[in-house]
Amino acid sequence: MRRGMTLFRTIVVATALAAAVPAMAQQTRDGLNPTGQNPTADSVTEEFLFKQEPKIGGRVSIPDGKSANLIQPQGREYQAFREGWLPWIGGIAVLGILGLLTAFFLLRGRIALDDPGPDTGKKILRFNSFERFAHWMTATCFIILSLSGLNYIFGKRLLMPLIGPEAFGTLSQWAKYSHLYLAWPFMLGIAIMLIVWLKDNIPEKLDWEWIKAGGGLIGRGHPHAKRFNAGQKVVFWMVVGFGAAMSVTGVVMMFPFAVTDINGMQVTQVIHSLIGVVFIAGILAHIYIGSIGMEGAYDAMGSGKVDLGWAKSHHDLWVEEQQAKNASVAQLGTRQVPAE
Ligand code: HEM
Repeated sequence: MRRGMTLFRTIVVATALAAAVPAMAQQTRDGLNPTGQNPTADSVTEEFLFKQEPKIGGRVSIPDGKSANLIQPQGREYQAFREGWLPWIGGIAVLGILGLLTAFFLLRGRIALDDPGPDTGKKILRFNSFERFAHWMTATCFIILSLSGLNYIFGKRLLMPLIGPEAFGTLSQWAKYSHLYLAWPFMLGIAIMLIVWLKDNIPEKLDWEWIKAGGGLIGRGHPHAKRFNAGQKVVFWMVVGFGAAMSVTGVVMMFPFAVTDINGMQVTQVIHSLIGVVFIAGILAHIYIGSIGMEGAYDAMGSGKVDLGWAKSHHDLWVEEQQAKNASVAQLGTRQVPAE
C-alpha cells in the first residue's frame, strides 16, 4: 500500500514538471506566465532600484562615507538636466539674445548723437579712474568666466570635435583654473561697484516716467534722467543680484560637501548654471548698448569723459546737478581767494 502511494506521488510530480517546462520557456520570452502574472515581480530589478526614495546605501569602512551611496534618484534628474536641458536653455538664451540684438540693430540702427550745438567739443567727466578700473576688472573677469563657463556646457560637444581631445583637455584645464581664480577679482569688482554706485541706483518715480517714455530707445526723444537711467539701474541690480547669487553658489561648489550634501551640491550647480546663462544674455545686451548700439556711450568707460551734448541728451538732470555743484565750488573759491 505504502509502495503504491509513493509511486502515485512520483507520477504526480513528474506530470507537474512536464507541464511546467514549456510554461517556463514562455516566461523567459515575454516575462509573463500563461496566467498573465509576472513571476519575477517581487525580485529587485534595476528599474525598481532606480526609483527608490530617498536612496539606497550600504556601509563602507573607508573615511569617505559618501561612497556607500549606491543609488540616488536625484542624481538621474540632475544628469538629465546637465546633459539635456541645460545645453538647450543655454543655447536659446545666448543665441536668442544675439538674434534679438541683431534684429534691433537692423531695425533701429545705431542711436546717433544729437547735434551738440553750442556744446561742440565740450566734455564732462562721467566716471573717474577708480570707477573705470573696477568696471574693466569686473568686465574682463566676467568675459573669461563666461567663456570658461560655457565650455563646461558646450565644450565637449562643440569644441572637442573641432580641435581634438588633447587640445581640448589642455584648454579645458586652463579654462577651469581661470574660472576658479578669476571668480575672486570678479567678486571684488561687484562689491566695489555696489559701494560706489549704490546711491545713484536707488529706484525712484522718475524711473517710471523714463520707462513709460520707452527710454528714448524706442521713440526718438530723450526722457529726463539723473546719473543712471532706469535701464542702467536694471543692469546695475542685475549685476549685483546675479553677481551675489553666482558668488554664493560658486564658493559652495569650490569647497565640495563643506556646507551641503550631494543633493545640495546638485541643486547649487543647477542654480549657478541657470543664472549664469541668463546673466551672460543680460550682459550681452549691456555690451551692445555700451558699444555699437549707442554713439558716444563707450567714451564714458573708455576715457571717462563724454560729450557734454550727449550727457545733456541722455542724463540732463545729472548734468544740471554737476554744473550746479561746480558753480558752487567756483563761487566758494572766488569768495575764499579774493581777487587781487
Ligand atoms: C566689453 C564689455 C563691456 C562694455 C563695452 C561695457 C560698457 C559700459 C559703458 C559704456 C558703461 C557706462 C554707461 C554710462 O555712460 O552710464 C558701462 C556701465 C556699467 N557696466 Fe559695463 N561694459 C562691459 C561689460 C560689463 C560687464 C561684464 C559688467 C558686469 C558683469 C558690466 C557692468 C556695468 C555696470 C553695473 C555699469 C553701470 C550701470 C550702467 O551704466 O548700466 N559691464 N558699461
